[in-house]
Amino acid sequence: MESNVLLETRNIIKDFPGVRALDKVSFCLNEGEVLGLVGENGAGKSTLMKIFSGAYPAGSYQGEIYLKGNRCAFKSPKDSQSAGIAIIYQELNLIPKMSAAENIFLGREPVIGKTGLIKEEELFRQTQDLLDTLDISVSADEMIENLSIGKQQMVEIAKAVSCRAKILILDEPTSALTEQEIRSLFKMIKSLGARGVSMIYISHKLDEIFEITNRVSVLRDGRTVGGKETSRMSRQELVALMVGRNIEDMYPKEKVSIGKTALEVKDFFVDHPFLTGEKVVRNVNFQVRSGEVLGIYGLMGSGRSELLNAIFGSFSADSSGEVYLEGKHVRINSPHQAIEEGIGLVTEDRKLFGLVLGMEVGENISLSCLEDISWYQVINKQKEDELIERYTRSLKIKTAGSKAIVNNLSGGNQQKVVIAKWLATNPRVLLLDEPTRGVDVAAKVEIYQLMNKLAKEGVAIVMVSSDLPEVLSMSDRLLIMHEGQAIKELDKEEATQEKVMFYATGGKE
Ligand SMILES: Nc1ncnc2c1ncn2[C@@H]1O[C@H](COP(=O)(O)OP(=O)(O)OP(=O)(O)O)[C@@H](O)[C@H]1O
Ligand SMILES: [Mg+2]
Repeated sequence: MESNVLLETRNIIKDFPGVRALDKVSFCLNEGEVLGLVGENGAGKSTLMKIFSGAYPAGSYQGEIYLKGNRCAFKSPKDSQSAGIAIIYQELNLIPKMSAAENIFLGREPVIGKTGLIKEEELFRQTQDLLDTLDISVSADEMIENLSIGKQQMVEIAKAVSCRAKILILDEPTSALTEQEIRSLFKMIKSLGARGVSMIYISHKLDEIFEITNRVSVLRDGRTVGGKETSRMSRQELVALMVGRNIEDMYPKEKVSIGKTALEVKDFFVDHPFLTGEKVVRNVNFQVRSGEVLGIYGLMGSGRSELLNAIFGSFSADSSGEVYLEGKHVRINSPHQAIEEGIGLVTEDRKLFGLVLGMEVGENISLSCLEDISWYQVINKQKEDELIERYTRSLKIKTAGSKAIVNNLSGGNQQKVVIAKWLATNPRVLLLDEPTRGVDVAAKVEIYQLMNKLAKEGVAIVMVSSDLPEVLSMSDRLLIMHEGQAIKELDKEEATQEKVMFYATGGKE
């Protein structure tokens, strides 16, 4: 059925200094389908999408693109938009200090004759109509900065619809959404599908791929390595295609002998960021022993990330509580002190807290342990290089070299740099906040193996994760949080998905 093909590429090659991101990619999207695009970190998914969106203009790559059989070459994002392609990036692109309406019709506002004056009323009415038809509960005059990430994404989708997009690209759209927001996104995808919009859906969450897509296509090392209808694909088959081998054990948790209490946290409270008097963490107490992995599970808003950040000294003015390391009371008023005491924190939001994006991969890794590799404030270059080399190798960070700028790495490889950076500080206690978010299946297993290795070396690990199978499999013990409180502790043996969800949603015995 040749006529069914909507968007097609032939032999696309895209090079960056030192890396071939796309290597003769042949890709096709059919009319009316939701195509899942999967592949390991650095496989080239985002790069291919940026070619479709015009972000990488014609001339910056080799090969051909066909839209409904016609050869096309997008010179700019505008070109691609007018051809009916819209892309929703993970980092949303709206202007925070403007209303939803102004963002949606930016540059296309209804104007009075030749005056150039915007017909405000009409702008807001049109927008409200659009939002209502799409069943998006946002008011047209709402300022973007006051909307949750999920709602902002909905506004971006509304914008795409108003531009009459026929192809909508979603690049890891759910990574910052709550469970409920994911549900409304899926509803939206279905209703757009019914309106005849074709979609490309990129995600590392295979559950989502199996739920929402009609067909999957797999990229590996810049090449298409296979694909077929989702209903005919098994999870194992998909994973094997992605990584080029079978992964026997997704959660290789090893038994490690557990030592003395390494970290004890007493009476932790954290203030709410804007509601005076309210707390986001309330009276949390726990301990974790050397070699042990304590998993913390809670739904969004349960205070899990705030708790880790508070222990790490990030909110010293707005939190209270006591920290004991190997039985010794320590005062931690800043992340700097936490690092000195041997605590590391891998944060959830790598862009905000984890990395200096404009700096080199190597510099990012050595940044947090400069004291160890310096002598009287002079950095020992050789030591630094050894350190960087060791971590890029052991974590299999895909980069053109330690001099590559972090911002140019694929999303998942950026996350590995964050982890490397903290491992380089040789922590005794490692706090991990969603360590595998945005990370591909094979790299997840690598991170789990690394956790095993650290546990064997006696590091105490606290892992916050909203991936239930992950947290159940990789923890020795589970702490469940609900509305700022640690409401239940479960041993690995007694923890099941149902039990954990029961407590996480506020259930009481
Ligand atoms: N602007 C750039 N400069 C240099 N190299 C780049 C740039 N953008 C991407 N790359 C490299 O191209 C390769 C493909 O990256 P891309 O972002 O397309 O991967 P991806 O499949 O989207 O991965 P992820 O799942 O981690 O998001 C990677 O090796 C990456 O480091
Ligand atoms: Mg990507």
